[in-house]
Amino acid sequence: MSVLFTPVRLRDLEMRNRIWVSPMCEYSCEQQDGLANDWHLVHLGSRAVGGAGLVMTEATAVTPEGRISQYDLGIWSDAHAEALRPTTRFIEAHGAAPAIQIAHAGRKASTERPWAGGKPVDASGGGWTPAGPSALPYAPGYPEPHAYTTAEVRGVIDAFAAAAARAARVGFRAVEVHAAHGYLVHEFLSPLTNQRTDEYGGDFDGRTRLAIDVTRAVRESFPRELPVIVRISASEYVEGGWDLDDSVELACRLKALGVDLIDCSSGGNLPQQQVRAYPGYQVPFARAIRERAGVATGAVGLITAPEQAEAIVASGEADVVLMGRELLRDPYWPLHAARTLRAEVEWPKQYLRAKP
Ligand SMILES: Cc1cc2nc3c(=O)[nH]c(=O)nc-3n(C[C@H](O)[C@H](O)[C@H](O)COP(=O)(O)O)c2cc1C
Repeated sequence: MSVLFTPVRLRDLEMRNRIWVSPMCEYSCEQQDGLANDWHLVHLGSRAVGGAGLVMTEATAVTPEGRISQYDLGIWSDAHAEALRPTTRFIEAHGAAPAIQIAHAGRKASTERPWAGGKPVDASGGGWTPAGPSALPYAPGYPEPHAYTTAEVRGVIDAFAAAAARAARVGFRAVEVHAAHGYLVHEFLSPLTNQRTDEYGGDFDGRTRLAIDVTRAVRESFPRELPVIVRISASEYVEGGWDLDDSVELACRLKALGVDLIDCSSGGNLPQQQVRAYPGYQVPFARAIRERAGVATGAVGLITAPEQAEAIVASGEADVVLMGRELLRDPYWPLHAARTLRAEVEWPKQYLRAKP
């Protein structure tokens, strides 16, 4: 009996299995428009047809300056949300839960697409000056970010809340706050990137205040019966930086605000990080946070084999697995994994004649 293929419920949202599509930037909007198009519909839709339990969009920017590149999805206006409606409708119609990751790229905003080199882009190339907690560039060759004023920080919180409300209106059934990978919310968490002297900096309470305020605002503006998820980097792999104990404490506080699941990633805030990646290398974070904070968790990172995914959820290390690159290689991975794990799952009717 497969645990991976048993339904999982968060609030009133029941998902058919525990395989979630991890958020992945596609850099596929028309330059500067931030609007979902055929690519997003087909890419995300294929993974619903492929049998995932939840399909999450890429990091979708809550403000224009919060985009990583000029080609990212945005949800800073109602028109942006409406452009995502065909995608939510299709995902839902094919049995998966449509979810959106809402994000602000902070000091790592305004870069080229990875396949164009991924370097920072200034105004002459259509880019903009990024903003963060403090005027500290990410790495040599990156611009000095504008340090947000306290009033601007409050504006960012409002932008997250407005984005979550829009997302619900166009059919998203779960929202994930991106507080990982060295983007804005993570930059505020870390003592190495946050040197503020206002209430959004300083001690642990100050540095976590943006994550807490954003999450509270999102929780209040998203329907009560639907789940709110937060993705964190459980460690930044740098001496003196944000670590697992900090993450456990933050997870306890997020749970108290009504967060339903912590999506446990790592790294991304500092170029000098020392990461040793191996299959399932972030699973121990999901396990520790689940045990010590008493909150549901998602495990992500180099999870590729059906037996591996099954073992993670069956052993109680995490409640769900999120998969990125393996689901790019094979959108039908869940259907194939069900066969390997001898779980009976519904195939799309259109494909029944191919069901093994
Ligand atoms: C093409 C690509 C784009 C990504 N974009 C995002 C993103 O928008 N938001 C995010 O939180 N993580 C992003 N990630 C990280 C993935 O969600 C995932 O955490 C990571 O790839 C590790 O999982 P995997 O080994 O299954 O790919 C991206 C990864 C890839 C490969």
